[in-house]
Amino acid sequence: MRKMIVSVAGAVALAVPTLAVPTLAAAQPTGEQLFNDNCAACHQKTGVGVKGAFPALAADKFVTGPAPQVTATVLVGRGGMPAFKSELSDDQLAAIVSYVRSAWGNKAAPVSAADVAATRSRASALAQPAGLQAH
Ligand code: HEC
Repeated sequence: MRKMIVSVAGAVALAVPTLAVPTLAAAQPTGEQLFNDNCAACHQKTGVGVKGAFPALAADKFVTGPAPQVTATVLVGRGGMPAFKSELSDDQLAAIVSYVRSAWGNKAAPVSAADVAATRSRASALAQPAGLQAH
């Protein structure tokens, strides 16, 4: 009897960590998944864009240039590109911007959620006058 209880407890202890891993991984989408969900419709999964409509992000000097400019573009949008500041959190934007800066052969430093938060506070101040000018 005692032997049986021990083996059941052992099986439970082994099963719990096995189940916990996929649950945690699914809760945190990667930069690649976030890009595919939010950006790839225009810029394509391969980052090549669509000639004449959506610029390439692969091998793009702007994307691998100063990070705050890339982050600000995604936050407030530009031309035919929508703003993502209300759609995506600082964590999600950091993952996406870091992804586009390092995918498809791009080689630029990642950005943190704190970097995004700093750009967000400056970008909303910058976006205000531009929005007013349009009227
Ligand atoms: C509805 C289509 C669309 C979606 C969705 C979209 N973009 Fe764009 N994106 C554009 C267009 C159009 C431009 C060019 C804007 C312009 O005319 O200056 C652009 C420009 C950019 C640029 C500047 C490129 C350069 O060389 O100047 C970056 C960076 C960028 N997008 C990143 C993203 C990211 C990251 C996402 C997802 C969070 C995204 N875009 C989603 C259409 C889109």
